[in-house]
Amino acid sequence: MKSLKDANIYITGGSSGIGLAFARLAALQGAHIALIARDTKKLERAKKDVESARVNSSQKVMAFSADVCDSKKLYKAVPAIIKEFGNPDVLVCAAGVGLANYFEKISDEDFKKVMDINVFGIWYTLKAFFPYLKNRNTHCVLLSSLAGLIGVYTYSAYGTSKFAVFGLADCLRSEFKENGITLSVICPPEVDTPFLQEELKTIPVKAKRIKKITGVLSADTIAHAIMNAIIKKKFMVIPGFMGKTSWLLHRLLNGYGTRLLTDILIKL
Ligand SMILES: NC(=O)c1ccc[n+]([C@@H]2O[C@H](COP(=O)([O-])OP(=O)(O)OC[C@H]3O[C@@H](n4cnc5c(N)ncnc54)[C@H](OP(=O)(O)O)[C@@H]3O)[C@@H](O)[C@H]2O)c1
Repeated sequence: MKSLKDANIYITGGSSGIGLAFARLAALQGAHIALIARDTKKLERAKKDVESARVNSSQKVMAFSADVCDSKKLYKAVPAIIKEFGNPDVLVCAAGVGLANYFEKISDEDFKKVMDINVFGIWYTLKAFFPYLKNRNTHCVLLSSLAGLIGVYTYSAYGTSKFAVFGLADCLRSEFKENGITLSVICPPEVDTPFLQEELKTIPVKAKRIKKITGVLSADTIAHAIMNAIIKKKFMVIPGFMGKTSWLLHRLLNGYGTRLLTDILIKL
């Protein structure tokens, strides 16, 4: 894909944060946008926002309310949505939730909720869209996290889910390629979105100290990274200098450096 112009782009989690920033950017490039999330009010606001970013009034912008965890409803809804909006050229799976807390304080229900949305939600979304993406030179983007590559203190639920997303992407990459689908996985450090406000409710102070190292990026920066990944057909993208450097050092030192730093920072 040389540009996003005229592409039909589906974005789960498109009503907020990274998904919405990418929707706006893609609309600016002349794409048609389908936003998928649960809350209809948020979706309506996002739809208006994306419409105002269009460069041509013939660009379609539609919003669909669906829960990516509800496989039965999703498998029924997706064919109907595609019939209405058109065959997908790009699918971005950005629906997700965060959670940072001490292991002891994370209930089984909370762990399951994070895994349901972040892992099973992506699995079900891919299952629902796969027949329409297959053999059509399409692109699929999964949102993992830098916390899906490096274990982060008090991220036992969220980090586990994002390691799973990266693993899924790594396993599926070649299988999808065989089927004419290019797959990208985006691994951002902290990004300034409503997700962070939610995380602030439970994140321990020591974890905030550790996360400061990689800094905070804007949702627009991640949106550009996603567009770049699609146009340049990149598999793995770590946005931002500090994120890339942390990953490089983690790899070079076989994890010793990041683990030692964590142990020092939690003792301060
Ligand atoms: N912000 C960060 O620091 C950061 C860093 C690295 C990676 N990420 C990843 O980037 C992705 C987007 O995060 P964000 O920061 O943009 O978060 P956000 O602003 O909170 O947006 C999350 C989006 O996902 C939707 N969503 C949540 N659960 C859903 C469900 N069950 N079914 C359908 N849609 C659902 C939300 O809408 P509804 O609630 O209305 O459904 C919303 O549109 C996530 O996968 C996150 O893990 C974020």
